[in-house]
Amino acid sequence: MSQTTTPDSRSFPLRRQCPLAPPPEYDRLRAEEPVSKVRLPTGGAAWLVTRYEDVRTVLSSPVFSADGTRPGFPTLLPGQAQVLRRPPFIRMDPPQHSFYRRMLIQEFTLKRIKTMRPGIQASVNRLLDDLLAMTPPVDLVEAFALPVSSLVICQLLGVPYDDHEFFQSRSKVGVSGQSTAEQFAAALGELRAYMDGLITRKQQEPGDDLLSKLVTEHLEPVGELRRDELLMMCLMLLNAGHETTANMISLGTVALLEHPDQLAALRENPELLPDAIEELLRYLSIADLVTTRIAAEETELSGTRIRAGEGVIALLAAADWDPAVFPEPERLDVHRGNRHHVAFGYGVHQCLGQNLARAELEIVFATLFERIPALRVAVPVDELPYKHGNLAYGVHELPVTW
Ligand code: HEM
Repeated sequence: MSQTTTPDSRSFPLRRQCPLAPPPEYDRLRAEEPVSKVRLPTGGAAWLVTRYEDVRTVLSSPVFSADGTRPGFPTLLPGQAQVLRRPPFIRMDPPQHSFYRRMLIQEFTLKRIKTMRPGIQASVNRLLDDLLAMTPPVDLVEAFALPVSSLVICQLLGVPYDDHEFFQSRSKVGVSGQSTAEQFAAALGELRAYMDGLITRKQQEPGDDLLSKLVTEHLEPVGELRRDELLMMCLMLLNAGHETTANMISLGTVALLEHPDQLAALRENPELLPDAIEELLRYLSIADLVTTRIAAEETELSGTRIRAGEGVIALLAAADWDPAVFPEPERLDVHRGNRHHVAFGYGVHQCLGQNLARAELEIVFATLFERIPALRVAVPVDELPYKHGNLAYGVHELPVTW
């Protein structure tokens, strides 16, 4: 993109050139126009924020609101405006946001996630047994990445895994940059009806799962949670819990295979695994476009005045590739030992499922490369169908062989 582009005519999302790296334009913006105006695909404009410190300010200061019902809240996908009329708590401010988050926090503590590890390992083992029985090339997204993340979130929530094809296909519509507003509305309606039916089943026959717990402890008339609120909460968990992690599994596999020296270092020293996961999270920053906000009052950021009611997008990949914080950010380095990336966001909305995501990724990468040491991508990596413009970046299909 030329430097003479007038700010309001610059369209967004920006194009990636290397599929594993953020758009190169982020570097220029961070250096020259750290807070810059863009035109959104849904109409309207928003400020792009590219410096690490500024991104953390946007995500932690109450000046920048996450309240999706505020007029002018920035959206990137055609159907998003519809969800924001009655948003889940990811698009609310405290104290409303805290009311919902508090109900869930106990389910996502490190201690609680530790108890889920044996179950996750068993699912990963079983899926890899099945995969190894297939004739390569096999699509790793469909045969492994999506089933792992779906199985785990279904088990936690108490959603029957047999229904995964139904909700996966409908959720796909919700996060795709290609869907129309009508497709989005239809998919959301079906998901709501599905979840409503499931809530009724849990009321009649509660089980040992998160949804049953919410139904028996928090749903009206026992608690203060309305049925439509519970419904949105569960849909958000189901969606956030499978799409993002599945993308990290498939894209993380590509990144490691593309950096054989880093994979070799990890194989030699498995204790590096937690650091390698953090580095992959930073390097790929797949939720780059998720963190949208709106200025609640007039403010200034890196010398740019932002007026009340203007939209802001805190670009996570731009922050995680800020050379002032991560020297040589383009180098995937499993020895980097960084723990302060913003791939899970920052501030009150920082990812609720991060402990679970880390556990899944650790188990997945340790087991995948141990069981299939000769794993490789079956087509040139540049030719893979990447999820350009999706809220969570990833790859639609990943044919692998061994
Ligand atoms: C919030 C990324 C996995 C549930 C977020 C946010 C990011 C993020 C960036 C902040 C959004 C914002 O500030 O606007 C990721 C990534 C994941 C992942 C990269 C995988 C590698 C999960 C999983 C769950 C989950 C497994 C489990 C259910 C949530 C929820 C929120 C959230 C509920 C909203 C928190 C709040 O508003 O208080 N995630 N996530 N995420 N994530 Fe994740």
